[in-house]
Amino acid sequence: MTLRYKFSVFFILFILFTVFLNNIGSIASFVVLSFIFFMLFKYGTVFFGSSWKPMKKGAIEKVSSIIGRNDNVYDIGCGDGRVLSHARKSKNCRVTGIEIDPIKCIISYLRVRGWKKDVSIVFGSMYRKSLRDADVIIAYLPQTTLDELQNKFLSEMKKGSRVITCVSVCKKLCLVKEFKKDRVYVYSNTK
Ligand SMILES: C[S@@+](CC[C@H](N)C(=O)[O-])C[C@H]1O[C@@H](n2cnc3c(N)ncnc32)[C@H](O)[C@@H]1O
Repeated sequence: MTLRYKFSVFFILFILFTVFLNNIGSIASFVVLSFIFFMLFKYGTVFFGSSWKPMKKGAIEKVSSIIGRNDNVYDIGCGDGRVLSHARKSKNCRVTGIEIDPIKCIISYLRVRGWKKDVSIVFGSMYRKSLRDADVIIAYLPQTTLDELQNKFLSEMKKGSRVITCVSVCKKLCLVKEFKKDRVYVYSNTK
């Protein structure tokens, strides 16, 4: 995420906040406040070193088709929880979401029903969370982030577990399946 991009988001938020303070109590302030929330939801992730791009419906369906009912599924960088929510509904599997953006984390928690048994939505960095329990790790992340994570995958993945990526690729793992149209890739740590 470039510094210029971060600065632009910060600048727009600053302007909006100033307009909000100058119009506090009026109808205009509610409109501006809604826009501030929209900006924070859509672009707030840039302040945590990444961007947010939700996975497309076709890709989500392909990801769910790989998951088994008994799998323990991790979505590292779970965003608004749409992938885990689909996995829960279609497979009723155990799910864990890890998300660094607090707003997305709350949305994920509500969407996937984080208070339920077998559901866990964790606020924090994926680099600090162990992936040893996961049968399936969903990683829809920028290529640079995925490159940094590959050694973590290799050292923490248990035998037979899979990593599912979308758009970005894992060069150090073994590709076992791919859905070319949706750019969904399934990797294993064993041949
Ligand atoms: C491309 S979005 C994918 C969102 C979701 N998995 C989906 O498919 O719709 C990447 C997400 O990873 C999150 N993220 C980036 N770096 C992170 C980190 N170090 N720890 C946890 N989450 C992170 C971002 O906040 C963003 O929501």
